[in-house]
Order: sequence, then C-alpha cells, then structure tokens
Amino acid sequence: MALISVSQASEKLRGGDVVAIPTETVYGLAGAINSDAALKKIFAVKQRPSFDPLIVHVLDVAAARALSSEWPVIYDLLASKFWPGPLTLIAPKTSAVSPVITSGLETVAVRCPDHPVALELLREVGIPLAAPSANRFGRTSPTTAAHVEQEFSGLVPVVDGGACTVGVESTVLSARMENGIWKVDVLRPGGVSRAQLREVMTAGGVAFVLNRESSVASPGNLKAHYQPVSPVILLDNKKLSRELREVAETQLGRSLRDWVELILPATPHEAARVLYEELRRLSTTPDQPIWISRWPKFAGEDWEVIWDRVERASSLIL
Ligand code: TXA
Ligand code: MG
Repeated sequence: MALISVSQASEKLRGGDVVAIPTETVYGLAGAINSDAALKKIFAVKQRPSFDPLIVHVLDVAAARALSSEWPVIYDLLASKFWPGPLTLIAPKTSAVSPVITSGLETVAVRCPDHPVALELLREVGIPLAAPSANRFGRTSPTTAAHVEQEFSGLVPVVDGGACTVGVESTVLSARMENGIWKVDVLRPGGVSRAQLREVMTAGGVAFVLNRESSVASPGNLKAHYQPVSPVILLDNKKLSRELREVAETQLGRSLRDWVELILPATPHEAARVLYEELRRLSTTPDQPIWISRWPKFAGEDWEVIWDRVERASSLIL
C-alpha cells in the first residue's frame, strides 16, 4: 500500500502534489489551494466533472474568514459549536480563491476537520487544503486508508489515520440574513443533523428559518452518487419477498441472484459510521443486489443523512 507519513505528505502538498488524507467524515483527496496544478490533478484523478466545486479545509475561523469576502456573523456561533467538525459553511469568496476550486461560483465552501492528522497536516503545510472525498466520481466514499487504495489502485499516496469516526460527509450549509431573520439552508445533509443546528441556534438566541434546500444551489449534489458495484435496492417498510425480487428484475432488466441484506445498526450515529464500509463489504457484482429495509423507527432528522445517502446509492426504491 502507498502509505506515507505526515511529513512526507506535507512535503508533497507543499510541492503541488495530491495526497489522500484522513478526516473524521471520510478520506479526502487533498491539494494545496495555491497550486492550480494540484487542484487540476484532484479533478483528473477523481474523474470529477469541473462543475462540481471542492471543499476547502482550514485550521480555524480566522483562516476561513481570510478566504471569504463576507462572513455571516451566525457562522461564528456555528463554528464555535461545531468546529472542528463535520459542518461546511458557504461564504462569498475573495479573489484569492481559485475558480478551479469553486467551479466558477462566487462562493467558497470551508470547514475545519476534526481529525488530529488532518489538523497536523494543515499546520505543517501552512496553506488551506482543498479536498473532495477520495473516491472516483459517483462511487462510495472511503472511510479507511485501504478503501482509498482500492479506489485508485495504489496510485495515490495515503496517510493512514485509521477508520473515520463519523463515516458520512459533512453537512453543507449556507446562511443569509433576510428582514432580520437568518435563512439557513442545508444544501447537503451530513454529520451535523438539523436537530443539532436548531438546538445551537435556539440556545444562541438567533431568529432563524432552517430549511433543507434541494440540489439547485449545490451543483455537485447529484442524485446518482455513492454507488457500489452491486445494485442497491431500498425497500420502504417492506421485507424482501419473491414478488419484490421479480419486480426488481423487471425494472433493472436483468436477472439477480444471491441477494444480501444490509442491516443498519439501531442508532443513527453507528449507522452513519458503518454505512459506506458495509456497502463496500457487501458489494460484489452487478447481478448480486444489496437490499436495505427502511422502517418507521429509522425516521426523523437524526436519520436524514443516512437515507439521503442510501437513496443516492440505490438503483431502485420499492
Ligand atoms: O466531509 C466532507 O465534506 C468531505 C471531507 C473530505 O471533508 N468532503 C466532501 O467533498 O464530501 P465532496 O467534494 O465529495 O463534496 C463537496 C460538495 C460538492 O459536491 C458541493 O455539493 C458542495 O460540497 N459545495 C462545494 N462548494 C460549494 C459552493 N461554493 N456552493 C455550494 N455547494 C458547494
Ligand atoms: Mg464525494
């Protein structure tokens, strides 16, 4: 495996190369934001379309503010509670942020990762790091160094920081003031739930409206995503039956065999932590499906990120 140390990684990053690094959410494919060569390499290695902007990882709020031409004051409250952690904030960017990072948007996405290795790298490199999840475009995000290795067949050097503790990507959020009220939009559900956001803003005495925005404002938020090789079939309030197997074969237009069930742990925190790992572990070939049942006991805001990712990973919802 192409494992490298933190100091080897920071040398590569300072030299304009890309390196896979651990974060608490998923592994990221990192490049220094002042190197257009590194930024372009990230898109090339991932086979990522150029319209899908990257998240910039920073050490602290001061570093985030330095990249923003405007910093909504509510972000100070949110960052004080959730940074370091799985919350990405969208702010208008300064001209110092390359359009390669933002896919030409006038805003930049920033977050401070809660992982000792990521923080050490940010400190050693001394430059913020752009990093999308370290997987080929459209595929399941990696939560261990070995997953990254599988994704890129050993071609990308990896710093091993152990298994990710959150297991799903960060929550992407944007906020703006309208008539004295903060309009807060979750553009992508993630490691921080809407319930957690609501609690902090309420306790902070903030007037706010919290919404889950559709994909429009977040260009990379595509429907088909996180897909393993095996088709994933989501069953709403149902167990697998012979009838459903036949419906699935008809709808997918091929015969399916050796169905395996992905059984989620009973708490949302545990479910998020193991979801991608389980999708990878159970994935075999395109004719061997993985099925997941969604029961009412798994409903509610704490489960929102899980079902968002399962739906995107699914070839079929029955
Ligand atoms: O947890 C995470 O966020 C991981 C780790 C590595 O930090 N990163 C990650 O990056 O998930 P990625 O590239 O797979 O997803 C980034 C998403 C984009 O697809 C887009 O939806 C959103 O963040 N995004 C980035 N910049 C944006 C912007 N300026 N406006 C709106 N959405 C943006
Ligand atoms: Mg991704």
